[in-house]
Amino acid sequence: MAALSQSGGQTRRASGGLKRPAQIAVLRLWHALLAGGFVVAWATGDENTYALHQFSGYVVLAALVLRALMAAFSPAESLLRWPVLRRQQVMDWLRRGSGRNPLFAGLAVALLLTVAATATSGAVADWMTWMEHPHEAASDVTLAVIFAHVAFVFYQYGGRPWLLAQIRRIKDRFGGKSS
Ligand code: HEM
Ligand code: HEM
Repeated sequence: MAALSQSGGQTRRASGGLKRPAQIAVLRLWHALLAGGFVVAWATGDENTYALHQFSGYVVLAALVLRALMAAFSPAESLLRWPVLRRQQVMDWLRRGSGRNPLFAGLAVALLLTVAATATSGAVADWMTWMEHPHEAASDVTLAVIFAHVAFVFYQYGGRPWLLAQIRRIKDRFGGKSS
């Protein structure tokens, strides 16, 4: 996950505060906590496993608060600041077709927002039962964004040559049959 060093839509340089390798290590640890907590919470949503659901759900909520604190107290160029998606960056990427794909930052922002909506609505549902349905719906939307995120990461880091090779093989096979 060396790519976490670039989460933000553009490569960010380290300046002041933690050194760059330490920033990457912190982001990786944080990512493991968030993703691990989310997977456990998602798998334990029903009544029989509610205690574990509550615990892992609050771990996710705490991870988000921690991320907000890191973003607030890190210097401007730090990797630990919030990922941002700028219009100019999207336009440049579309025009030149090169550079960092803006979907990295777009998906990071979408993930942070949907995970936050799921964890917050869960905390409210703990007290107010009418929030259970919106909470379930939020977790479904988040899961879809996570699938898109994992597929995109796979495609960008190593999966693209494999996928293109499969497409070429299929094309060759069909081409071979028709000739
Ligand atoms: C096999 C599963 C996963 C893999 C391989 C993976 C990999 C990655 C990678 C490589 C990045 C950095 C992307 C970049 O360069 O910008 C990233 C960022 C991120 N991932 Fe995942 N991820 C996984 C699962 C998850 C899950 C389950 C969640 C949410 C619950 C999640 C939430 C995030 C968030 C919020 C970021 C943005 C980090 C930030 O800049 O604040 N990921 N992930
Ligand atoms: C971000 C992580 C979370 C995820 C992915 C998640 C996911 C889910 C899912 C899928 C359900 C539906 C389960 C079912 O009906 O089969 C559910 C229910 C519920 N969740 Fe969460 N949740 C999270 C965080 C939280 C938190 C922090 C709380 C606070 C304690 C919470 C409280 C609840 C409650 C009260 C229900 C209804 C339980 C029931 O119907 O018996 N969730 N959650």
